[in-house]
Amino acid sequence: MTIQPSDSIRPVRFEDGALRLLDQRRLPSEETEQVFTDAPAVADAIREMVVRGAPAIGITAAFGMVLACRNARGQTDWRARIEADAGHLRDARPTAVNLFWALERMQRVIAGCATPEAAESACQEAAQAMLEADIAGNRQMGALGAELIEPGQGVLTHCNTGSLATGGYGTALGVIRAGWDAGRVRAVYADETRPWLQGSRLTAWELVRDGIPVQLLCEGAAASLMREGRVGWVIVGADRIAANGDTANKIGTYGLALLARAHGVRFMVAAPVATIDFATADGSGIPIEQRPEREVLELAGQMVAAPGARAYNPAFDVTPAELIDAIVTERGVVRTPDRTRLAALVGR
Ligand code: MRU
Repeated sequence: MTIQPSDSIRPVRFEDGALRLLDQRRLPSEETEQVFTDAPAVADAIREMVVRGAPAIGITAAFGMVLACRNARGQTDWRARIEADAGHLRDARPTAVNLFWALERMQRVIAGCATPEAAESACQEAAQAMLEADIAGNRQMGALGAELIEPGQGVLTHCNTGSLATGGYGTALGVIRAGWDAGRVRAVYADETRPWLQGSRLTAWELVRDGIPVQLLCEGAAASLMREGRVGWVIVGADRIAANGDTANKIGTYGLALLARAHGVRFMVAAPVATIDFATADGSGIPIEQRPEREVLELAGQMVAAPGARAYNPAFDVTPAELIDAIVTERGVVRTPDRTRLAALVGR
């Protein structure tokens, strides 16, 4: 396996008793880490986009629980204190189910421990294992997704689903990396992804570091790109996949899926099994985060909109399952996803 620069990007690290997050708001101009020693500050960092991307948010919250246990040492009400910190983390962002999945796992670990010291070390071990399993799963997903791409195709991606959005390597971007390495992907197009510009700031940064050529486009150019026949697949990640395959992902994904269907372009969602929420029957039950209006009215902190204008700023939208050709997970590929096929993937 070739070691690429992407293998060195680790957005979430736990070292010397502290959580270190690469501050993604500052990329690509600055590579700086922020250091955290308490869970409420970690919750703020998730809300404020220091770290983002569904799997990375989950892993971060898991390490946040390590800090919660540490800060509860020596307290008689240690379980209540840890639970209060879990509540802060749970409230950070509503859409990515990986956050709740990771917290539930850590809470089960803590329930089996008799002291906060024991809970701290068990959580640290579990969070580190979660991070490592995520990277291994992404490699699997990459290989499986790349096999679906006929050699010589162009692909379009949206938002950032790479090393920065996960433990490392990436989901949809992992598929693109694997497809490029296998000589299947010929050209990569990335939406700039307003308003946070995850495409132009983060995806382009990762691909350029890997030596994979990338062309950025304004979201509005996607229809023309497809009509010109430049892409065979749209490949995106997910924040939550409902039991029937409806998929919440970065705002604009639904539009891309409609355009893809209209132009005969195929549509792939790459996500770990942890992103599938079997408790939510369909997309109508997925909570969609509404973010501050200023994110749309401003550009890089500068007001650009006409004074007095308001903004509509949902962070995610839901793509109906019938517009998705394949959901690629670390456990296998589900083509034309529906409730039965998704359940079969996990042996339900
Ligand atoms: O608001 P963000 O940047 O957290 O949104 C991220 C996305 O929508 C990603 O596509 C999704 O989380 C999958 S990341 C592997």
